[in-house]
Amino acid sequence: MNHITVNVDGVRYDDEVEPRLLLVHYLRETAGRTGTPVGCDTSNCGACTVLLDGVSVKSCAVLAVQADGSSVTTIEGLAVKGDGEVGGDWHPLQRAFREEHALQCGYCTPGMILAAADLLRENPDPTPGEVREGLEGNLCRCTGYQNIVRAVLRAAAETAEPTAADVPAGAAS
Ligand code: FES
Ligand code: FES
Repeated sequence: MNHITVNVDGVRYDDEVEPRLLLVHYLRETAGRTGTPVGCDTSNCGACTVLLDGVSVKSCAVLAVQADGSSVTTIEGLAVKGDGEVGGDWHPLQRAFREEHALQCGYCTPGMILAAADLLRENPDPTPGEVREGLEGNLCRCTGYQNIVRAVLRAAAETAEPTAADVPAGAAS
C-alpha cells in the first residue's frame, strides 16, 4: 500500500491505496465523488475527465498514486461556496449546459464540462471549430454535440473580459 495526500474539491484526503488503483476509482469509492462516472475504463470516452492541478485528465488513465500531492477538481467541486462547502453557485459552464440543453442522459456531461473548463482556460474565446477540436477526446453517446458546442461558446461569452471595443464611447476616463 502507498500513502497519498490529495486535495479533492478543496478537501484534503490522506489515504492508503494500492499502487494499481485508478484515480477514477479512488475519487468515486474513497473520496465519494460519484459525480465522476466511468464510461469505458479504457481512456476512450472522456466521461471520467477531472482537473488535475488545473489540467484536464482522463482519471481512468491516471493512477491514484500519481495524484499524490496534487489538487483534483471534480464536477462536484465546480460549484463550491467561498467557505469550501460543496453546492454553491453553479459554474458558468454548468449554467450554460443547462440553458443550452446540452445534455440528454447526462453521462458525458461532467467530463465535457471539465474538459471545456480546461479548454477555456487555455483559449477563453474559442471558435466553434476550436471547441469541437478541444472536446474531441470526449464522446457523447446521445450525440448532442451541437448544443454542447453552443453551451461552451455561451460560457466563453459570459465570462469574457470586456475589451476596449465593448466600452461605450465616452465611458473611458
Ligand atoms: S472512463 Fe475514462 S475515458 Fe472513458
Ligand atoms: S448526454 Fe448522454 S452521453 Fe452525452
